[in-house]
Amino acid sequence: MSNKRFYIETYGCQMNFADSEIVNSILMKEGMEPVHSAEEADVIFVNTCSIRENAETKVWNRLKEFRSLKKDKGDLTVGVLGCMAERIRDQIIDQEQLVDIVVGPDAYRDIPNLLAEVDDGRKAVNVLLSLEETYADISPVRTSDNGVSAFVSIMRGCDNMCAFCVVPFTRGRERSRPLKSILNEIKQLSEQGYKEVTLLGQNVNSYKYEDIDFTRLMDEASKVDPEIRFRFSSPHPKDFPEPLLHLIAERPNLCNYIHIPAQSGSSTTLERMRRPYTREQYLDLVERMREIIPDVSLSTDIIAGFCDETDEEHKDTVSLMKIVEYDLAYMFAYSERERTLAHRKYEDNVPEEVKKRRLSEIIQQQMNIQQKNNKLEIGKRHLVLAEGESKRSSEQLSGRTDTNKMVVFDRRDFQKGDYVEVEITDCTSATLMATPIRKTSIREFYAEPALA
Ligand code: SAH
Ligand code: SF4
Ligand code: F3S
Repeated sequence: MSNKRFYIETYGCQMNFADSEIVNSILMKEGMEPVHSAEEADVIFVNTCSIRENAETKVWNRLKEFRSLKKDKGDLTVGVLGCMAERIRDQIIDQEQLVDIVVGPDAYRDIPNLLAEVDDGRKAVNVLLSLEETYADISPVRTSDNGVSAFVSIMRGCDNMCAFCVVPFTRGRERSRPLKSILNEIKQLSEQGYKEVTLLGQNVNSYKYEDIDFTRLMDEASKVDPEIRFRFSSPHPKDFPEPLLHLIAERPNLCNYIHIPAQSGSSTTLERMRRPYTREQYLDLVERMREIIPDVSLSTDIIAGFCDETDEEHKDTVSLMKIVEYDLAYMFAYSERERTLAHRKYEDNVPEEVKKRRLSEIIQQQMNIQQKNNKLEIGKRHLVLAEGESKRSSEQLSGRTDTNKMVVFDRRDFQKGDYVEVEITDCTSATLMATPIRKTSIREFYAEPALA
């Protein structure tokens, strides 16, 4: 196995990116060498996503490109990892003959054995889901992040069974990673100079390890290093813990930013979606968030055109988004997925052009809201963590505020990894422009006594 060069291309959510780092670690332990392009590799892995039809289409197209690369090159192994592996293993291997290896999200420890099988001339598949696997003992090898912000996976799987969602079928049952191994990973990140950690799970507020709940985990995590800022993704509106809101309000290094997916603003649609909260309960939660953390920034996920969605129901979504005024929203047209409750029970009956029209109405309104919210930032001071050069110019750095807004400012003597106090001078709907004031720290900026 050793000396082989591997390349991993990752699609989908942050969990998948975190998983690719686990796979890096497993392969490098075998003596394999990571490379940065498919052309240089002996083994190509595609870590895939099934969440919507177009996510899968992208991967199919890429696999076809790799098939031609394989024809040219002869000796090339192609593998599919992640959620598509779980969903359509037979199709990938048998029908299309595109790939040699298929590995589901809970079977990554088996990759070295599977590669050995391929070397023996066989196709290799392991898509077993597990009730326990959290890869807790594997230190991810972070080859593709910016050296400043890291993702740490705290749980796997999902038991929620939202009617539209394929994740419970591709990722299996929910399980939480031991607290100690999470804290150890954060300690290592701190020693390596990381300044921002996002704790990841499909449903983080149901984290439960022994008697440790999610609020306690955030408490412990934030005490590991007061100069690392913490975010998390995603919580579920159905049981968001209020003590966590107080903790975020008190702790300078817990970011004032919450991604709280609504999916819809209509109680009847939410019921069909099997999201166990109403519009009113969701709006109450948002109100509590804003009471307890006055400058909290909120973002959301929205699905347009779910089964049977009426114009009235769609209008309720538009109005909910207008009331909340999210700083950021991920908006999607509904895409039917096999095996889900919606697929079994409902009809995907909102015509494509209606979905599109509703989606663009939602997006248009959201852009206007972001433009308006961002204008209100002009003149304000923020603490920005410099993440690297801005996309447009090497003379500028970019980074995000505590509230997760992207900011661009002149580089001067500042460096990647610095906390910089800035004053906002201008904006678009997506980015703030700022003048840097000084290099500082979380504790200095918020003038709080040291933690713990
Ligand atoms: N666990 C996360 C979401 C993971 S999927 C959570 O519950 O917040 C990310 C987003 O994709 C979802 O929030 C939803 O808005 C969207 N999504 C999921 N299934 C979808 C489907 N079938 N069609 C369109 N969008 C979907
Ligand atoms: Fe999917 Fe719902 Fe689980 Fe999120 S909470 S992963 S939307 S089933
Ligand atoms: Fe996609 Fe799987 Fe994540 S379906 S969104 S990669 S959990």
